[in-house]
Amino acid sequence: MAQGMSGNLNHAMIDGPQGKAAQEYANQFGAPGFHDITKAYIGQNYGGYTAENQETWRVLYDRQMLYLANNASEVYLRGARSINLVRDHIPYLEGPQSVNTFLMPLTGWQSKAVPGYLPAKAFFACLARREFPTTIVIRSRESIDYLPEPDIFHDIFGHVPLHADPIFADFLQTYGKAAVSTDDPSHTERLSRLFWFTVEFGLIREGGRNRLYGSGLISSPGESAHALDSKDVDRRPFDLETVCNTSFEIDHYQPILYVLESFDQLRDAMNTYAQRLLDPARRPVNA
Ligand SMILES: [Fe+2]
Repeated sequence: MAQGMSGNLNHAMIDGPQGKAAQEYANQFGAPGFHDITKAYIGQNYGGYTAENQETWRVLYDRQMLYLANNASEVYLRGARSINLVRDHIPYLEGPQSVNTFLMPLTGWQSKAVPGYLPAKAFFACLARREFPTTIVIRSRESIDYLPEPDIFHDIFGHVPLHADPIFADFLQTYGKAAVSTDDPSHTERLSRLFWFTVEFGLIREGGRNRLYGSGLISSPGESAHALDSKDVDRRPFDLETVCNTSFEIDHYQPILYVLESFDQLRDAMNTYAQRLLDPARRPVNA
C-alpha cells in the first residue's frame, strides 16, 4: 500500500455510494463504533473493467512474467501457478475461478476489494484476519510503466502469490496481529520499515543468487532489473533489528535492499518480535 496521489486510475469503479461508505468507515476504523473491518470491503464490480483495462493487464503480465521466470523466487512462481494467476484477464476476486477460491484451501488467505487507501490500523486489522486489502482498479495505458500508488496489478500480481506459501502466510498474519496491537508510534514506524524492506522490496537468496519476492519489485518492470543488477544498490543480509532501524524513501529506485536466507528466517524473526509486543510479561521494563 502507498498513500496519496490518485491521478491515473479508472476511479469510476470505486466512486459509487458503496465505495464512499466503505472508505468513510475505513477512515474511522478503531474509533468507538468502528470495529468491523469487513465494512471497509466492497465488491469487485468486475463489469466495470474496460477492454483497455483488460489489455493493460495482459501487457503488464506478459512483460513481467517473462522476466520473473528466471529472476523471481521459486516461492513466488509456485504461488502464481497455484492461485491460477493468468494473463488472459484481470483476476477475479469472487466466484469459482477466482484467486480466492484457489488460495483458500492452501493457506486460508483471501483478497478483499477496498475502495482506496486504508489507514494503517485498518490495513493491519485486515492482515491479522488473513485478509489482504486489494485495490481493484488498474492503471491507465499512459501510466503503464510507472504508477506511484497500488493498483490491482501491484496488489494481486505483486503480492498475492506469496500468500499461497504457508510460511509467508503465517509471517504476514503475525505481522498484522503485532502491528494492530500497538499504539506506540516508534513500533509502528519500525514495523512499517519491516514491511517496506520485506513485503514490498525484499530479495531472497535461492540457488546461490539473489531473487525477487517483494511486490514493489515483482510488479515494476524498471525496478526489478535494477534491484538485481545495478551497482548502485547496497544489498545487505536481512536482520530484523537492522531493517527496523533503516529509514526508507519513496518515489525513486531503492538504494538499499535486504536479502533473506529463507522465508523461515523472516517468519522466525517476526515471531520473536511479535512475542515481545503481544506478551507484556516478556517486555522489558520501560520498553
Ligand atoms: Fe504493496
